Amino acid sequence: MKQFKLNVNTKSQKYKIIIGKGLYNNLPKLLAKNSISFNKCLIVVDSKIKKKIISSILIKFKKKNKIVYFFKASEKNKNQKNVDKILNVLLKNNFQRNDCLISVGGGITGDVSGFASSIYKRGIKFINVPTTLLAQVDSSIGGKTGVNTPYGKNLIGSFYQPNLVISDTNFLKTLPKRELICGYAEIFKHSLILNKKFFTFLNKNASKILKVESPFIEKSIIESCKIKKKIVELDENEKNIRKMLNFGHTFAHSYEATLNYNKKLNHGEAVLLGIISAITFSLKIKLLSKIDYIKIKDHFIKYNLPRKVSNYFTKKDLHKLILFMKKDKKNTSNLINLILIKKVGKLKLNLNFKDGKIYDFFKKELIN
Ligand SMILES: NC(=O)c1ccc[n+]([C@@H]2O[C@H](COP(=O)([O-])OP(=O)(O)OC[C@H]3O[C@@H](n4cnc5c(N)ncnc54)[C@H](O)[C@@H]3O)[C@@H](O)[C@H]2O)c1
Repeated sequence: MKQFKLNVNTKSQKYKIIIGKGLYNNLPKLLAKNSISFNKCLIVVDSKIKKKIISSILIKFKKKNKIVYFFKASEKNKNQKNVDKILNVLLKNNFQRNDCLISVGGGITGDVSGFASSIYKRGIKFINVPTTLLAQVDSSIGGKTGVNTPYGKNLIGSFYQPNLVISDTNFLKTLPKRELICGYAEIFKHSLILNKKFFTFLNKNASKILKVESPFIEKSIIESCKIKKKIVELDENEKNIRKMLNFGHTFAHSYEATLNYNKKLNHGEAVLLGIISAITFSLKIKLLSKIDYIKIKDHFIKYNLPRKVSNYFTKKDLHKLILFMKKDKKNTSNLINLILIKKVGKLKLNLNFKDGKIYDFFKKELIN
């Protein structure tokens, strides 16, 4: 199968994203081909990856230079304690700066491993092998690493770009449908923020993408990576336009936090509800035309994507929802900062609203 390569050029690091099918069958060869050398590597593997797949990955590495560490990926385990456990393995085995850590897992495993790589001896080589759709189209690109704290999600972390990203679509065959939808939420978001043509492609092919059909799945990963890469290259440390990637996320984070991150609503589902909320608000303040609003909403209906905020929240939740929106990292004053949409492929950043306005919006439009 053909391999697709994208070059990411940020100020701190230049690296490749390789996308294809069957890449994990010979990782050492792929690493060598892409000039990644090391004496020792620590492979941090999500323990939910099927044993058969793990064996076929590990068998190709030389016995004496690999150490395997299994990680049980969950938001609860995405913490400093588990970063310390990985650091201890590196310390015990005297890893040097030119050795490497390879993450094989979803966004959680990648964020935890990437953070450990960034602080061990102030940085060792980091290879990301994302195994979920969300990680392949979003979290493996752009260098955000980190862990959760009791005060909130992703509050401790670093910007640390990987040396290489290897995205094998074969991993997606074992991914539950709900997790595929999670990844799809970010793909759809990418199309809305920067690429109308890609939106049209998704409108036609979303069900094939959700069934992991080639070449639709590859095309959606590549196009999505191109959009994220373009934004990250322009604004690596999220000073300005990288905020675009948070489209729908101010609402989404508040939905997740209000439900205390329980399984009723996972991250991607919250992002889809967040997108619906953001387009509805954009329509209400006359930023988005009714025609474009219907075009986007119809996509949710056509592919039966989560879209009813009132299925998850009642009027009793309103105060909590607003409270979490007021805690958003983008806010610089007492106002709530939103990223809204003007038309498919064009956003409007940094609009600020009084909490009363958002409260009324929830009451009248979303939870009625
Ligand atoms: N760093 C970034 O820029 C960035 C961007 C977006 C999201 N994130 C973070 O990513 C995390 C979410 O990532 P995710 O959705 O990949 O979650 P995840 O890592 O928890 O993976 C989702 C679930 O799928 C399982 N899994 C992983 N690969 C599998 C496979 N091939 N087959 C079957 N099951 C598999 C995992 O064990 C887990 O249960 C969040 O913590 C979020 O904060 C980071």
